[in-house]
Amino acid sequence: MFGKKKPTPQIDKDQLELIENAQKRIKQKKRLYIHFVVFLIGAVFLIIANTVLGIGKDVTLFGKEWFLFAILIWLFFFLYHVFNVFITHKFMGKAWEKAQLEKLVAKQQTRIDKLKAGFVKEETLIAQSEVYNESQTKTKKNKLTIIVAAAENDAIGLGNKLIWHLSDDLKRFKNLTSGHHIIMGRKTFESFPKPLPNRIHVVITRQQNYKAPEGVIVVSSLEDAIDASKNDSQPFIIGGGEIYRQALPFANKIELTRVHHNFEADTYFPKIDTSVWKETSNTFHKKDEEHDYEFSFISYERK
Ligand SMILES: NC(=O)c1ccc[n+]([C@@H]2O[C@H](COP(=O)([O-])OP(=O)(O)OC[C@H]3O[C@@H](n4cnc5c(N)ncnc54)[C@H](OP(=O)(O)O)[C@@H]3O)[C@@H](O)[C@H]2O)c1
Repeated sequence: MFGKKKPTPQIDKDQLELIENAQKRIKQKKRLYIHFVVFLIGAVFLIIANTVLGIGKDVTLFGKEWFLFAILIWLFFFLYHVFNVFITHKFMGKAWEKAQLEKLVAKQQTRIDKLKAGFVKEETLIAQSEVYNESQTKTKKNKLTIIVAAAENDAIGLGNKLIWHLSDDLKRFKNLTSGHHIIMGRKTFESFPKPLPNRIHVVITRQQNYKAPEGVIVVSSLEDAIDASKNDSQPFIIGGGEIYRQALPFANKIELTRVHHNFEADTYFPKIDTSVWKETSNTFHKKDEEHDYEFSFISYERK
């Protein structure tokens, strides 16, 4: 009842095209053969018409009988036919046109791909520069400077206190920061007995109703702290660990006091990436009665 269906021959598009082309070539060659035969018969007829039947016997051209020129003209058309079949159609036929078209399309596709890749690259560069510009807008005019004292092992604090006492370092801190905004985390602020004189304190906290003495600016983010210091030509980030880490990508300068010793600590300064930061000055201080450790004042600028 459900007899097997007869399998229908499956010829794909390429095969069909090959067959069509072969048929076309056969037809062209057949037509050429017929032309050849007609030309031979015609040539014989023209010779007979002139020489035997005497048609146009008196007509000559350059001293030769007319049929010679008629045969030569016909031979020219026949050779033109041969040329078309064996040269033009063979080498510049449909297949040749298709191949040329495919080559052009492939070329165009490569160009489009190249252009696309170029656009992606350009877009990435634009996006990168936009992000950088955005981060720099607020700090463009002012030199946002990180000031920190860090040990060889990057230790900066323990139990919310500084680990060492180096009077020259404190003097330098006072000299550099006086008259400027000093931006700090709430914990660092609370490590001071009272606000430092002659400086505008900007304290960062997530606490909604944080109470600070009069004159202290309280903000809820680093961005707001930088914004609050925008009229200062050189606001300072003075710590601690959490704030240093967040501010490092936005800073233009680092004033580091490197204490040449290792300390136990609970707060650390991030590693300074020398592919981003270049050292611009370095002054060494020896150990003496007032200073228990050797240290160096090192300045870095963003490359
Ligand atoms: N050696 C040095 O040069 C140096 C300098 C400064 C400080 N220190 C030392 O560093 C230590 C303190 O550093 P730390 O890392 O513990 O604390 P910190 O950075 O001084 O302050 C951290 C606090 O800042 C606030 N905060 C941080 N990120 C915030 C954000 N994105 N938005 C809003 N608020 C934010 C939070 O306050 P809330 O909890 O109130 O929300 C957080 O608890 C101490 O030992 C200090 O002595 C050393």
